[in-house]
Amino acid sequence: MQQRRKSVFASAPFAMKQAALGAGVAARRNGAPLSLAAVVFALFVFATFLYNEDIKSITDFQFAAVRAKAPDLHLLQEAQAAAHAAVDTLARRGEEVIVRVMDAAAAANNTTTTANVIVDMGQEEKDRDVTMPTVSAGAGADEARRREDEEAAEKAASARAAAATAALRTVVSVPETCDLYRGGWVYDEVNAPVYKEAECEFLTEQVTCMRNGRRDDSYQKWRWQPKDCDLPSFDARLLLERLRNKRLMFVGDSLNRNQWESMVCLVQSVIPKGEKTLTKFVNGGNSNVFYAHGYNATVEFYWAPFLVESNSDNPKVHSVPDRIIQWHSIAKHAKNWVGVDYLVFNTYIWWLNTLDMKVLKGSSFDEGSTEYVEVDRPVAYKEVLKTWAKWVDRNIDPNRTAVFFMGMSPNHITPEAWGNQGGIKCAMETLPITNRSASLDVGTDWRLYAGAQEVLPTLRRVPVHFVDITALSELRKDAHTSVHTLRQGKLLTPEQQADPKTYADCIHWCLPGLPDTWNQFLYARIASSPWPADATDQTASKQQ
Ligand SMILES: *[C@@H]1O[C@H](CO)[C@@H](O)[C@H](O)[C@H]1NC(C)=O
Ligand SMILES: *[C@@H]1O[C@H](CO)[C@@H](O)[C@H](O)[C@H]1NC(C)=O
Ligand SMILES: *[C@@H]1O[C@H](CO)[C@@H](O)[C@H](O)[C@H]1NC(C)=O
Ligand SMILES: *[C@@H]1O[C@H](CO)[C@@H](O)[C@H](O)[C@H]1NC(C)=O
Ligand SMILES: *[C@@H]1O[C@H](CO)[C@@H](O)[C@H](O)[C@H]1NC(C)=O
Repeated sequence: MQQRRKSVFASAPFAMKQAALGAGVAARRNGAPLSLAAVVFALFVFATFLYNEDIKSITDFQFAAVRAKAPDLHLLQEAQAAAHAAVDTLARRGEEVIVRVMDAAAAANNTTTTANVIVDMGQEEKDRDVTMPTVSAGAGADEARRREDEEAAEKAASARAAAATAALRTVVSVPETCDLYRGGWVYDEVNAPVYKEAECEFLTEQVTCMRNGRRDDSYQKWRWQPKDCDLPSFDARLLLERLRNKRLMFVGDSLNRNQWESMVCLVQSVIPKGEKTLTKFVNGGNSNVFYAHGYNATVEFYWAPFLVESNSDNPKVHSVPDRIIQWHSIAKHAKNWVGVDYLVFNTYIWWLNTLDMKVLKGSSFDEGSTEYVEVDRPVAYKEVLKTWAKWVDRNIDPNRTAVFFMGMSPNHITPEAWGNQGGIKCAMETLPITNRSASLDVGTDWRLYAGAQEVLPTLRRVPVHFVDITALSELRKDAHTSVHTLRQGKLLTPEQQADPKTYADCIHWCLPGLPDTWNQFLYARIASSPWPADATDQTASKQQ
């Protein structure tokens, strides 16, 4: 056994690391797995049943996707079968529920509904007779009747919109007392990954490890199981409903970009083609913006690797060996964060290059200052977080915006740390670390973690949710992109892939993969918060 490295981080809060250790693992209570083909049309039905078990009425299902083209009979049949199954389940529980699956073409142009209808499978003719207005009372009544019909249709449309939205306005249950970050990794081919690599067109080549030649895909199949509760399964529709008319923004370095990409993939699967757009390098080059048209929702990434201003703020041209920060200047970035509804910050990896941080002496790069002082890394880190915290506390409206701070994403560069003598960085690793001894030391600078723990509670107005991913991610030596990635914009050549010592990236993560779990923590917090009391009316009226 390797002698334990005498770490400079000996004072690290090992209690925190132990949080992830020795967790018992509960079997998960899962919903029945869905047939993929049925999902396209039936997911809406299912999602409603799975996540709002008490729902007693479901209105019509309109599908933007089917609006464009003729209904696929096979899909429709599957959808009907799925709906039948769902109904049977509820019926067995004695619930009074009748579900209606309409012919897709008719559904696409139907403007009438009743809030609680819902009978019939495919009896369009009979149904039409029933809802047709009864015989007219004379020729003069035609105009009045037409107006009545219009009004009724309008009312019905808004009722339907409200009901459909209400069905998604669920509050996911996550016990406040449950520490989501304490638990273990469970191999689970049924529930992981949440999406498929080939099914997310927005993934960059940097993270598509399978396409880039990785052979084993087991890294995609580990699910995080908290010890004392379940992490809610990710439901893209519920999250998008939360994001309706809102902005979610990740701010930070390339690890946060990694997580942003994951979030885009997590939500995009339920948005039809043509109703989603990804725009890169907008806003002076610092922002990537994913836009979900139908929801008027964005999932954005903003490049600011130190959060404060630095000479590394150009997202494309930033391989600066001499990293210099301005630890009290944040406004230039922060003005882009104002009014965003969900803010997710991180900063860590850029601090690791040197033990000391270079801090600009003059007032700004713009004024040509170049002189700097060198400051001990944890001291500078804490000072930067204080600058950030002060800005957040002064400029964020906690009634509008939820703020998250991501724990540090660990690297896996020292295989001796997990007992793999002779290993090369994270290359060829296919399993998480299972041997969880308290002395696991993959080189994380826990002093920065401690700094964050000190600064975050000092905010007075704005609560910040700390997303404690570090210890649980330390176990995932198998999940990095390693040699299945790019270097300077180009896929590694076979020769480079054969030389992991030089080329393996043991910092970033494959997708699907670990960052999906980080986003599930965000999801758990966002989807479990109460809806504002007045939001129903607002949403319903905005939809028209
Ligand atoms: C929907 O129905 C209305 C009449 O009820 C008709 O005017 C309209 O063209 C239809 N739209 C489509 C897309 O079929
Ligand atoms: C429209 O919806 C109503 C109520 O759900 C139904 O009675 C009617 O048959 C539908 N019309 C068409 C064309 O599907
Ligand atoms: C669309 O979203 C933006 C950003 O959240 C918001 O400011 C705007 O009011 C929304 N538009 C509508 C029509 O609700
Ligand atoms: C947030 O809203 C509550 C209730 O409406 C109000 O009392 C409180 O002052 C608000 N807080 C801030 C910081 O605006
Ligand atoms: C367990 O981990 C330690 C380092 O934390 C390592 O030295 C040891 O060899 C590992 N044991 C096994 C069986 O892998």
